[in-house]
Amino acid sequence: MRVDRGEVQIQELAEEPRPFRALYEHWERHQWSPFAIDFSTDAASFAALDEPTREGLVLVFAHRFHAEFNVAALLAPFLLAAPDYEMQLLLATQVADEHRHIESVLRVYSDVFAVEGGIAAVKALADAQLDPVAAALYGALDGVVRALEASRDEDSFLKAIVAYHLIAEGSIGRANQNFVAAQFERIGLFPGLREAQRLAVRDEVRHIGIGISYARRRLTRDGARARALIEEIVEGFQAFGDSLLEDAAADVLDDFARAYGAEPAMLWAEVLHQLRLRLRSIGFSHAGRESSITLRP
Ligand SMILES: [Fe+2]
Ligand SMILES: [Fe+2]
Repeated sequence: MRVDRGEVQIQELAEEPRPFRALYEHWERHQWSPFAIDFSTDAASFAALDEPTREGLVLVFAHRFHAEFNVAALLAPFLLAAPDYEMQLLLATQVADEHRHIESVLRVYSDVFAVEGGIAAVKALADAQLDPVAAALYGALDGVVRALEASRDEDSFLKAIVAYHLIAEGSIGRANQNFVAAQFERIGLFPGLREAQRLAVRDEVRHIGIGISYARRRLTRDGARARALIEEIVEGFQAFGDSLLEDAAADVLDDFARAYGAEPAMLWAEVLHQLRLRLRSIGFSHAGRESSITLRP
């Protein structure tokens, strides 16, 4: 059985006696700079790739750019709606992390893909590659989080945390990271990309820990009500993902398969597997009654 180090870390963070303090201290101890990573070997490997593989790798980074760019901007409503200082502090650290991740992706575009023109050029390139599946997912996430702009109550906050930290980062992001890591190894020598990925994933594990700690606290404080809100978002997401997979055009699915080295149905199965792990981490089935959510095995 494969041991997923990130998985172990998420669980350890969730089980800390003082998780909010531990998550902040983790941030203090793990600063890094994308400017310290050497991408020269990666640039040579990239130049040597055949055209379809190169296009696939650029698509992976277009997805990555959108992911980092969108989640960075979406933290502003969270910060304004933070229910207490502990959450506000953690969200502030996450704002810094997500902007560092954008800078890290921009370095890959400039130093590995030789794209000049900074964020404007990268955004134009990535936007041109935005597929309907990714666009629909970002639209849905945006809707749940931006509800915080109109109502900053704790129930809206919990729904936004479930959509952002447990689903977008905790399930889609985790699944994506696993396939991307395997793809880097498969296609060539990319030590810089792997190092940048390792450092960003370490941050992402902590971000997931923030969402898990908050959801656990809500389940402990107001079980049935919190459970109903979590179910609403999770079930909505599962139905939404099923329909996206069913309705996606064949060429979009082919692009995904080539870029990630796995069929889209496998990607979706891994997303649901990760989601099940996150629900277990928040103690979902131990909050008074068994969950009514039946995620497919
Ligand atoms: Fe990130
Ligand atoms: Fe993140």
